[in-house]
Amino acid sequence: MDQIDKTKVPRHVAIIMDGNGRWAQSQGLPRLEGHRQGAVTVENITEAARTVGVSYLTLYAFSQENWNRPDDETAGLMQLLTEFLISKKEKMIKNGIRLHTIGRTERLPEPVKELLWQTIEATSAGDKMTLTLALSYGSRDEILRAVQKISQQVKEGQVSGDQISEELFESALDTEKMPDPDLVIRTSGENRVSNFLLWQSAYAEYIFIEPNWPEFTEDMFLNCIAEYQKRERRFGLISEQVND
Ligand code: FPP
Repeated sequence: MDQIDKTKVPRHVAIIMDGNGRWAQSQGLPRLEGHRQGAVTVENITEAARTVGVSYLTLYAFSQENWNRPDDETAGLMQLLTEFLISKKEKMIKNGIRLHTIGRTERLPEPVKELLWQTIEATSAGDKMTLTLALSYGSRDEILRAVQKISQQVKEGQVSGDQISEELFESALDTEKMPDPDLVIRTSGENRVSNFLLWQSAYAEYIFIEPNWPEFTEDMFLNCIAEYQKRERRFGLISEQVND
């Protein structure tokens, strides 16, 4: 924690939690055990992010493509999500964590959906950190839905074509009202973005690290924050301009 400059903590950290299956395989365990251990990491990293002063933590928990996995795996993931929501609700309330979600959550099974909305409602007063779970999420799909919303507004005469600005577009995304991610982390040694927050991460710093998600620790997370703090974000400007 000493290595962290508390004045330069990224406001929004987004994480592609990858490698649950490979971790399980390396331990001779069924894939679902990797996801189960991954849920423990979710709790630990949420705690670490809140403690260090991150305001928004967004986790890629279930992609649209994940629906194509074998039925027992998707059912197992829904079960883990259910257990997480039930068992962590009180802790989230106590720690000031507001739960939020992005993605096509209407595709979730009815009881999971209901529990998710109940937990979002119950934690809505949290003012320390917003924990967003990307569920049934795909960035291209989110962008297309935003385009459809805006086309409808144009059709109904609420906006004209030349009023379509970045701000208007952002207000039609699922991440409406959230700041863009400053830092995106992906575990498991894969160097891909995989359809995660494509619009929103235009100026994010990326860190790709080797450990699988179930073995990702609080210390590793803090090291990522320290690495982020060493980088110079220029947003298209030159060094002298951003350091003025
Ligand atoms: C990627 O590992 C991870 C997922 C597809 C799901 C993430 C889910 C969790 C961390 C647990 C449940 C979530 C919550 C919020 C309680 P993978 O299975 O693609 O790994 P692999 O590439 O090694 O197969």
